[in-house]
Amino acid sequence: ELTKDKNGIPLLVLRNNRGASATVSLQGGQVLSWKTERREELLFISNKAIFSPPKAVRGGIPICFPQFGNRGTLEQHGFARNKIWFIEKDPPSLAGDFNGKVYIDLLLKPSEDDMKIWPHRFEFRLRVSLAADGNLTLTSRIRNVNGKNFSFSIAYHTYFSVSDISEVRVEGLETLDYLDNLHQKERFTEQGDALTFESEVDRVYLDSSNTVAVLDHEKKRTFVIRKEGLPDVVVWNPWERKSKSIVDLGDEEYKQMLCVDGAAVEKSITLRPGEEWTGRLELSVLPCS
Ligand code: BG6
Repeated sequence: ELTKDKNGIPLLVLRNNRGASATVSLQGGQVLSWKTERREELLFISNKAIFSPPKAVRGGIPICFPQFGNRGTLEQHGFARNKIWFIEKDPPSLAGDFNGKVYIDLLLKPSEDDMKIWPHRFEFRLRVSLAADGNLTLTSRIRNVNGKNFSFSIAYHTYFSVSDISEVRVEGLETLDYLDNLHQKERFTEQGDALTFESEVDRVYLDSSNTVAVLDHEKKRTFVIRKEGLPDVVVWNPWERKSKSIVDLGDEEYKQMLCVDGAAVEKSITLRPGEEWTGRLELSVLPCS
């Protein structure tokens, strides 16, 4: 189903046969909504979100590519989230297609202007699929169609909707090393059990296992993040002070959101000419145990 937002940008709504849905914008290839069969929204979108291109919307799942954060010379989080993507009508087939899955394929290629700031020709194919059980999968395939190698970082900057950040725990990052953006990207080792939140957090956990869980006790639900090809996990909550400096985020909204991203940040990925990389993120939601 194809609709448009108020700026005329196409939005694609995927619905499975049980009534779960996901909405993807061609602006940034960004997932803006993911709802269960009971029509509960699972992703956070700020009430102050600014839907005015080319800036990415505050919430959902913006894609950071080819740079994460300010670790490089490009604009913050790279340019992919600020571009209009195209629908790919006849995509190359992909393992794991099966009945009951609805999906859309998007494609981003660099414009001549992009080539001036990042002189590498690529094809970025994004498949967003919603399974019969409501799981949401984002599969990225990035191909080097250049004559020379290039390297990139990537993150699915997933804003989960949570009841109250103080009640949330993240499991699966115990004992890992992380780079702390709040301490000059210095390396630390996670000491605690599960991760809980009582102040600003802005970290890149390194080489995590392929499953991470976000437990929301109040809502009695758990998000399960499964990832392939994405060794790192970014965890971000701006908390009170930083929220006030973000124009498209309400002062109190940090309580209702948590970013946990499947990512490849610390070690960039290098593609030789003709080579393709695949990274996959699968999100599911379960009742809390
Ligand atoms: C996080 C970064 O991943 O994204 C933070 O580590 C940053 O430093 C945040 O503030 C949001 O970035 P942006 O560009 O979407 O405001």
